[in-house]
Amino acid sequence: MGLIPQEVISQILDRASIVDVIAEYIPLKQAGRNFKAPCPFHHEKTPSFVVNPDKQIFHCFGCGVGGNVVTFIMKQERMDFPEVLRILAQKTGVAIPVSDIRNNQANEIRQQILSVNELSVKYYHQALLSDKSEIAKTAREYLKNRGLGLESVVKFQLGLALEQWDGLLKFLRSQNFSASFLEKAGLVIAKNQNDGYYDRFRERVVFPIFNARAEVVAFGARSLDQNNPAKYINSPETPLYTKGKYLYGLNWAKDAIGRQDAVIVVEGYMDFITPYVAGVENIVASLGTALTVEQIRLMRRYTKNVVMLFDADPAGQAAMLRSLDLLVQEGMSVKVAALSPGEDPDSFVRKFGAPAFLQCVTQAQSLFDFKIKVLLKKYSSGRIEDNAKIAGEMLTTIVKFDNAIVQAEYVKRLAQVLMIEPEALSLEMRKVKPIATLMAADGEPSRKLLAQQIRPVERSLLRLMLEEKDFIPLSRRDIALTDLQNQHVRDIVAKIFELFDKGCDPTVTVLMSCFEEQGILDMISGIVSSEEFIAGDRQKIYRDCTLRLRQENLKNQRQDILRQMEVARNNDDHKALEELSYAFNQLIKGS
Ligand code: UTP
Ligand code: MN
Repeated sequence: MGLIPQEVISQILDRASIVDVIAEYIPLKQAGRNFKAPCPFHHEKTPSFVVNPDKQIFHCFGCGVGGNVVTFIMKQERMDFPEVLRILAQKTGVAIPVSDIRNNQANEIRQQILSVNELSVKYYHQALLSDKSEIAKTAREYLKNRGLGLESVVKFQLGLALEQWDGLLKFLRSQNFSASFLEKAGLVIAKNQNDGYYDRFRERVVFPIFNARAEVVAFGARSLDQNNPAKYINSPETPLYTKGKYLYGLNWAKDAIGRQDAVIVVEGYMDFITPYVAGVENIVASLGTALTVEQIRLMRRYTKNVVMLFDADPAGQAAMLRSLDLLVQEGMSVKVAALSPGEDPDSFVRKFGAPAFLQCVTQAQSLFDFKIKVLLKKYSSGRIEDNAKIAGEMLTTIVKFDNAIVQAEYVKRLAQVLMIEPEALSLEMRKVKPIATLMAADGEPSRKLLAQQIRPVERSLLRLMLEEKDFIPLSRRDIALTDLQNQHVRDIVAKIFELFDKGCDPTVTVLMSCFEEQGILDMISGIVSSEEFIAGDRQKIYRDCTLRLRQENLKNQRQDILRQMEVARNNDDHKALEELSYAFNQLIKGS
């Protein structure tokens, strides 16, 4: 969101009418001050989807989903935040300033790299299709042996870098691109001692890497020589291309991913292409590394359901483990599939066909089962320390589930597997992450549940701040963010303070434009849409809230220490017991 200033966002939100926009998608019926419709985000017969023109937000009382005009369009059109803002800016006649000249120049360079990439794709593609050299014949033969017909070569715009040091360079210079610019675009490399340039890719099959809008952002290139140690080489980072921000194949797969509400993530180019051609269309490739947050957010636009299918070699498994925690943390629902030993998706589909491949995908195991198996194998001596290590690594994953009930369930299962007391695990879990976050990770029911899991005192306080600006500076003075237990309430309040300090009016819709996480949007819309009325003397309610907040926190801390003392006592851990009772007394003195 960085590039568009907050004032401009506020201005756009001010002018765009949420009722008009949503009415373009679904029929709205007036109901008092509000408008109603059957919810477009879950299946229902009686309408519980409400659009509130005063606050410029929507909220569904059925599934708990909420947001403002921008997030509504984002969900409908699967666009990202800046894309929607640009469209709304145009509709409402608000100019989005280009923050400075440099920015303009950067844009210009990116555009130029896009066009030079486009030309390079054509150049490589032509060479693969029709060059007469020996290597071109080898390349065509190679692809045919890998099961790729002409149709696929055309669809994926595959190409060939010939056996030349400056084929592409000469071609692009004849199109009036300077060599130094081509170097910036990652297509050529400067020789030592300023002695000219040479093509980055030579004697390789070229895979153009597209972004979701089907623009070519970079290239990967596979050696035709079995013995070349660099099997694939890739474009370097350029002003256009940042590694780990793209998913290979997404431009072709995105519709199928949305339709099937699931995505299969594989490692390599060919692991995408072969299954895709065989009819498995909801698939993308991470390109040989662990998934990044950007890649995960990219797929989250289309689905939350991920099946990971990485190679069974140690590198693949390590990349997978690193990806899993991140996926959970980003609210994705993850499973792990495995193929027969020694196969990757490309070789498997060619040997056994797409149905057998899909069979493996259907049999994917849960993240929990997968990780515990890996760990049991890794720490297999059966000693107590091994158990502790397994518990520790499992807990780092479990705490990332933003749902207390899911967490509790996993703790129970982990305790069973390791044959230890669930209470001990719960205590360990507090160490890993002291504040329980209660946000939902998966599906509708948990979303609802979540809204109920805010303490009433935090809910009331937040509502007061959202309804009356005067309570913002007061809260800033009276409470610390650490007094708030619910991580989302914390994030929201922190943002309210920040906007307030910057002199921006933190209206509900402006506030919503600061968050991408659906759970947070749902929470805000849920709180301000609820019918419960804050009646009576609001100043007094505010004072009661802050007081109660402090009291409850002290009580929680006391209970926490008592619980730990109980465990220490059971373990005859006198030293811990002593420390804990000291902490307990300090706490009582302080209150
Ligand atoms: P793999 O080594 O599993 O290769 O790397 P692969 O995809 O099965 O290759 P083929 O089937 O022999 O053609 C998986 C992915 O890791 C990246 C590539 O994106 C590759 O597809 N990689 C691998 C590199 O970037 N460089 C390398 O040298 C090797
Ligand atoms: Mn392979």
